[in-house]
Amino acid sequence: MAFIDRHAILEKNATLLLAASLLVVMIGGIVEIAPLFYLQNTIETVQGMRPYSPLELTGRDIYIREGCYLCHSQMIRPMRDESERYGHYSLAAESEYDHPFQWGSKRTGPDLARVGGRYSDEWHVAHLTNPQSVVPESVMPKYGFLMNNLISPTYIVDRLNADRMVGVPYTDEMIASAKADFMAQADPNADTTGLLARYPKAQVANFDGQPGISEMDALIAYLQMLGTLVDFSTFTPDASR
Ligand code: HEC
Repeated sequence: MAFIDRHAILEKNATLLLAASLLVVMIGGIVEIAPLFYLQNTIETVQGMRPYSPLELTGRDIYIREGCYLCHSQMIRPMRDESERYGHYSLAAESEYDHPFQWGSKRTGPDLARVGGRYSDEWHVAHLTNPQSVVPESVMPKYGFLMNNLISPTYIVDRLNADRMVGVPYTDEMIASAKADFMAQADPNADTTGLLARYPKAQVANFDGQPGISEMDALIAYLQMLGTLVDFSTFTPDASR
């Protein structure tokens, strides 16, 4: 009997076919997934990475709520055209504290993984309020209403705790100072010594230029930190690669 004839046994027996398919998919899955747990570049800890500050985390939630990820990726692929346009390719560790990650799958607009520091806060306000005012051909929607939505850190302790539950290393001190840190980051006159010790490189500003803390402030605080934590002038990829 030719080998191809024996295959008929599988094709005529649904249960056997199901069991055999499952086995094949399982082997494929293990081969793809298992290496990620020991390959150095997927598990390396990278200097500079830290959990999001309370205001940045709030801005990130707004980013997700508004569906920015539907048009923007946050993952620079290791290809020359990408790194020349956007900067160093994204490291796995840069998504370490993202729950869920924001890699995205569609680029109607540019990748945002390293947009932090590329534009001024004023530019972001103008752009988010009316993208066409700074980029005439833009198809990005207007988000000016974010400026009218004032926010307070009512639930920020719960929010940090929720991330801690899934593995983000927020310390007791970070949780205890969450409300104060939230307020301080949007206030250029505040004492930010504690904030900056807990969240190095956090940008402190009245991001939207208006009194009060708005969703616009939080979103821009988030955008301005994207991709700024790892210092690529000193970063050396793991030697085993
Ligand atoms: C319908 C698709 C779409 C959505 C949704 C969208 N954008 Fe955009 N975005 C674009 C396009 C297209 C551009 C490029 C033109 C421009 O700069 O406006 C862009 C540009 C940008 C830029 C400038 C990036 C650069 O490197 O020049 C930022 C920052 C940005 N978007 C942030 C956001 C944020 C934050 C949200 C959610 C509140 C958002 N976008 C939602 C399409 C979108």
